[in-house]
Amino acid sequence: MSDFSQRLIAWQAVHGRHNLPWQVSDPYRVWLSEIMLQQTQVATVIPYYQQFLERFPDVASLAAASSDDVLARWSGLGYYSRARNLHKAAQMVMERFEGQFPCTPALLAELPGVGPSTAAAIAAFSFGAQAAILDGNVKRVLARWAGISGYPGTKVVERELWQLATKLLPDSGIERYTQSLMDLGATICTPKKPACMACPVQADCIARQQGRQAELPTPKPKKTSPERQTVLMMVERNSKILLERRPPSGIWGGLWSLPETTSTLDASSACQQRFGLNVEFDSAGEDFVHVFTHFRLTITPLPGSVISQIALTHEDHLGWFSKAEALELGLPTPVRKLLMKGS
Ligand code: ADE
Repeated sequence: MSDFSQRLIAWQAVHGRHNLPWQVSDPYRVWLSEIMLQQTQVATVIPYYQQFLERFPDVASLAAASSDDVLARWSGLGYYSRARNLHKAAQMVMERFEGQFPCTPALLAELPGVGPSTAAAIAAFSFGAQAAILDGNVKRVLARWAGISGYPGTKVVERELWQLATKLLPDSGIERYTQSLMDLGATICTPKKPACMACPVQADCIARQQGRQAELPTPKPKKTSPERQTVLMMVERNSKILLERRPPSGIWGGLWSLPETTSTLDASSACQQRFGLNVEFDSAGEDFVHVFTHFRLTITPLPGSVISQIALTHEDHLGWFSKAEALELGLPTPVRKLLMKGS
């Protein structure tokens, strides 16, 4: 077993943040600070925390206040659902727990606005409970140190991180250890440019050994790109294929391409109208996907042969090419692939 927790505790004693106003063992103060610190930095929180406590020195005064008064004292901190939950939680402590904060993470987590990590932090700081925290900073520290890849927002990865966080808990000194994880995440193991040289667990950090600090934790997967569909018509006449030069802007701007249409059903009428051609189409070829940076294009190849010419078209943007000639032109990759396949 690694002495991860011992190194963190020793580091915190020297390099961690001390004398923060909420480093006390009063659960009301700890709870208030943890809620304020959920989405707000320490330096911003400190004056709000102090003013809030002057107005509401204990859970009874907070529970008895009007919502307007609570919101007014929160004003400027943002994420106001935190203030509404805080007020409700204070009333719940008064009514359900007779004015005493519960001392287990499970009961604390029943208070509105208190998730499992915040519950553990409150229990550890106020009651010395052996409880593991796992907020965003701690996820980053642990994912890097243990080399755990996969987006931590997924259930599987989160479960693995909770197990590790629990396994690493020290036998004693939970308060300092909990603070050390928060401090390490905020000051050393930062999202960008972590200060690994100053880290107490750099020696056995997997991300550092493998140079993967920038890749871990794995970022949230990008939304899958939108899908578009098109039909590429492969119209043949006398062993030549009809190509159309694309307009200068847009995808494949200015390249020669197979003429496009929106659906296999309108291909015949499209050929009549646009090219003056009666075309008999075969059944469509197999769809394939071409990936662009911002979307995925599903292409249906549709081969066909000219039956008759119903009008003359002399347009520079149209041309008949043998396959060999066509392959000499600037062609979009999927069009080139289709032509090569057919030859
Ligand atoms: N962020 C969340 N809880 C914290 C705490 N107790 N001290 C410093 N930063 C924190």
